[in-house]
Amino acid sequence: MEHRENFKSRIGFIMTSAGCAIGLGNVWRFPFITGQYGGAAFVLFYLVFLVILGLPIMVMEFTVGRASGKSAAKSFHALEPAGTKWHIHGYIATIGNYVLMMFYTTVAGWMFSYIFKSARGEFTSLTPDEIENVFNTMLLNPKEMVFWMGIVVLVGFVICLRGLEKGVEKASTVIMTSLLCLMLVLVVRSLTLEGASKGIAFYLKPDFSKMTSHGLGEVIFAAMGQSFFTLSIGIGSLAIFGSYIGKERALTGEAVSIIALDTFVALMAGFIIFPAVFSVPGVAPDAGPGLVYITLPHVFNIAFAHLPVLGYLFSGLFYVLLLLAALTSTISMHEIATAFIHENYRLSRQHAAIVVTVICIVL
Ligand code: PFF
Repeated sequence: MEHRENFKSRIGFIMTSAGCAIGLGNVWRFPFITGQYGGAAFVLFYLVFLVILGLPIMVMEFTVGRASGKSAAKSFHALEPAGTKWHIHGYIATIGNYVLMMFYTTVAGWMFSYIFKSARGEFTSLTPDEIENVFNTMLLNPKEMVFWMGIVVLVGFVICLRGLEKGVEKASTVIMTSLLCLMLVLVVRSLTLEGASKGIAFYLKPDFSKMTSHGLGEVIFAAMGQSFFTLSIGIGSLAIFGSYIGKERALTGEAVSIIALDTFVALMAGFIIFPAVFSVPGVAPDAGPGLVYITLPHVFNIAFAHLPVLGYLFSGLFYVLLLLAALTSTISMHEIATAFIHENYRLSRQHAAIVVTVICIVL
């Protein structure tokens, strides 16, 4: 029988699973939909869904992985009663994973591009309209987007190729530790900007009347969707990590640690973004997906007008942070897709990783 690799340490397992959960959903999507749906009241709903739905579903996914000892590709084959069709979920999960990879690696590519743009100071002398133009021009430039997307996919490939322990576990642990340190620096800087308190109030003081303009149902649905997306539940990504948890560990305990880390990072992202946005008069936090690409470069310009070098550094580091978060999730998507091919078609891990990389770039 082929030897199945395992995590080297428990902290490595937690960092890898948390790395899968922590991603663009925390640092890009969470702040922008919180901004769109009115701030603290939305956050409250989000937290409730994390506990009442996210936690039990995460425990269930881990259970499926641990009980079968396999990834989503084969877990239901191993567990289902004879003659039932639960294994179809393995295919749905895999399709979902590829669809996610298609958009995720593209948005992660934008982060790469923005690290260079902002660290070079490309935004400093631009008006808000011109900044918006930079973003829209990038979206109209397939060569630039494919280039950066390709780099993101290749990074995932190289890490997966090195295997679970030496590649995925090691990279996730290093990236997650850097991400947490970087976040703390940026939170401190953002909270000490002048006018930051208005952003904190928007973020922490629930105002339910703000929800009425969207309708309560829409806000609740968005909060639920965000809680699922941020925990990576539903497409078998956690099942694969569950398959590596030893029988001596309590699954609920592991799930609580991962959700706590994920929530910490999302909330910290808000503490970086909202005080910064509100430190600039006349800027609103409801720009949607463009919040970190259009609103923030403008905010950084004004907030750091008297200290441009610090501004380059802050905004460059900010996009590095977004990219690091995106990379750990991309690695886990690569891992799921690689495991699917490796387990189903008896290709070696290396060959499976190559196939996934090619499919992903083509898609
Ligand atoms: N949870 C990730 C995020 O918040 O960005 C998104 C994600 C990653 C969803 C991996 C699903 C997945 F398998």
